[in-house]
Amino acid sequence: MIRSAILFVFLFCATNFFVSAQKTADVNVESLINSMTIEEKVGQMTQIDLGVIANGEICNLQNPQSINSEKLKIAISQYHVGSILNVGCASGTISLSNWHNIISTIQNENTKLDRNKIPIIYGIDAIHGANYTMVQTLFPQQIAMAASWNPALVEKGFAITAYETRASGLPWNFSPVLDIGRQPLWSRFFETFGEDVCLAKSMTTAAINGLQGNNINNPYKVAACMKHFLGYSMPLSGKDRTPAWISDRELREYFLPTFEQAIKSGAKTVMINSGEINGTPVHVNYDILTKLLREELGFKGVAVTDWEDIYKLVNLHRVAENKKEAVRMAIMAGIDMSMTPNDFEFTKLLIELVKEGTVPEARINISVRRILELKKELGLFSQTQFTQNNYPLFGSKQHAEVSYELAAECITLLKNKNNLLPLKNEKQNILVCGPAAQSLNLLNGAWTHTWQGVDTKYNTANKLTILDAIKINAGNATIQYAMGSSLDSVMDLNDCFAKAKNADKIIVCLGELPCTELPGNIDDLSLPLAQQILVNKLKEAGKPIIFICCFNRPRILQAVAKYADAIVYAYLPGDEGGRAIADCLYGKINPSGKLPFTYPANVNAIVHYDHKTTEDQDVDFSANAYRPQFDFGFGMSYTKFDYSNFSVSQNTLNDNDSIVIKVEVKNSGAVNGKETVQVYYKDLFASITPAVKKLVAFKKINLNASQTTQVEFVIHKNDLSFINKDLKRVTEKGDFEIMINNEKKLINVK
Ligand code: BGC
Repeated sequence: MIRSAILFVFLFCATNFFVSAQKTADVNVESLINSMTIEEKVGQMTQIDLGVIANGEICNLQNPQSINSEKLKIAISQYHVGSILNVGCASGTISLSNWHNIISTIQNENTKLDRNKIPIIYGIDAIHGANYTMVQTLFPQQIAMAASWNPALVEKGFAITAYETRASGLPWNFSPVLDIGRQPLWSRFFETFGEDVCLAKSMTTAAINGLQGNNINNPYKVAACMKHFLGYSMPLSGKDRTPAWISDRELREYFLPTFEQAIKSGAKTVMINSGEINGTPVHVNYDILTKLLREELGFKGVAVTDWEDIYKLVNLHRVAENKKEAVRMAIMAGIDMSMTPNDFEFTKLLIELVKEGTVPEARINISVRRILELKKELGLFSQTQFTQNNYPLFGSKQHAEVSYELAAECITLLKNKNNLLPLKNEKQNILVCGPAAQSLNLLNGAWTHTWQGVDTKYNTANKLTILDAIKINAGNATIQYAMGSSLDSVMDLNDCFAKAKNADKIIVCLGELPCTELPGNIDDLSLPLAQQILVNKLKEAGKPIIFICCFNRPRILQAVAKYADAIVYAYLPGDEGGRAIADCLYGKINPSGKLPFTYPANVNAIVHYDHKTTEDQDVDFSANAYRPQFDFGFGMSYTKFDYSNFSVSQNTLNDNDSIVIKVEVKNSGAVNGKETVQVYYKDLFASITPAVKKLVAFKKINLNASQTTQVEFVIHKNDLSFINKDLKRVTEKGDFEIMINNEKKLINVK
């Protein structure tokens, strides 16, 4: 342990030395632009998929990683492509050395053929770790990271993702997802930091700092890409890439702040929402892409489209009659780079448009400048060859430990009747069953080795499933296994039931098929029927039942939750999740995760914790009562925390004042534990109907048994603000309640 800590410190210092030893090439972007032809400029704005320059048919590739030199030559000398993305349509994770070959082949050919010697920038979806490089460190997905309520730890995780992505020769990461998760049916819910703006903003800063640090020329950092600007996560139907109806006020209240925060934190690039808001596809929305993003928020970086989205303006959105018109509309709205990604039609059409004068050359110069500045900042002009030796911590035990810590801190204990958990090391029979018990894929979700994450052949050896890890922890207990149900059909139910009858305890591992985007669309948020049947059968055995939930989104548990004596919600905890879950069951970890979303009790009862009074208790019928399965911010521990001496420093808040809030927290139980102290407020009366409560600050603390500490928060007037009907952020005068745990203090804003 100590030896590995010393090695870690040594390697950290060594890698930092390497960092400071990097040089930035002295590139004059302006003179480069002046010397470029229109074709070369438009090429910079073109991003193709790896499949276009690989052997085999596009999107039907067995080995897209083998580059076809003829195709590569055409891409460079004929189209001057500025960017390449992805890992090829039908492929999965490839090795570090394979990545190095791909990147060096591309860059070497580019140096030979491109008279301007402008490097090609490679972009990748490293969503929860460098998920397209073999033997990488896979982290919990973003929703799980948010459940840790520990931004410092989340930053460490993103920093490792940056390190391992850059180690693969990939300087640009299409991450983080900054869409707010207020539509739990949406297939990408797990990619968000949850439903709350305050929590998601803290996570945003952590993600951007972790990925970029303060200098993306650092060879252990990458350019982040905040996505998907704007309003992608709230399709009315819950189906991916279908219309969203979001008023400008709500867009600014709920969906904009994370992006605003990312821009303040220095995010270098942005990806645009594939969908439409109020009937206008975002890719042609000048108000959003130029007025809001550039003029109002001051974003200076590169705006890339999402997958083939310019063409989709014709055949899907039907706002452009042909592709040429679509290209014109998107570029004039503010797009810098088109993820084309399967052909060069965009490139040809934009060249025509500029030559005809329909798109001014001055307009494309703006985009080319942003792209070249990004390449310069990343140090790509002076990048030497990659060697594995520069990245000794790639896929290391140290990195896996950070992933484990994150998984440990995200696990959320939602129910624990009669303190069933933690399990004691007793001589007893335990049945482990359910579809998630024996699967690494169900712990990781989509964006794991492949886009959808279902293929098992790329899984990292020696990572433990939940069952593997329980066996290691079991001590004197006998562990039996029967699946009982796959994700969606009942299997060996009789065998499972027979084992349940002989068991002292039953651990049922519920799960959801790894999926994202359109393949992840579902019609019903309920726990799949087969898994409900399994639980219903198990309850007949009359033994204590523990649910482990590994879900992409909060699958409705209402029908079966009552049969669970304990519920451990694990989200998608990543490759170390099995270990963390078992350690939590056996008390090596004291759970400290808190829900970053409101867990609905019924499929049609999607109401958030920060709902309005009308959505709460209507006096006459009580029909609108807010009755979630579990509340936002909820999560239990194996110890008990007592709150006392809650105070506010003053009862009035003037313009430049701040209020100091203090509270004492005592760990009054017998074991050490972590607690997240959450501060909420309620604006009692406001010109826009106020929420019943809103999170305003939080801190995660670590307390030994019997230890007490004082936690302090500073709140400014602006922290109590909202977007008014004129789309201005305001804090209105009047009374506010500040709430911690079940206590309230009244303050008056002047
Ligand atoms: C997704 C993006 C992703 C891109 C590149 C799109 O389909 O919406 O989130 O970054 O593909 O793979």
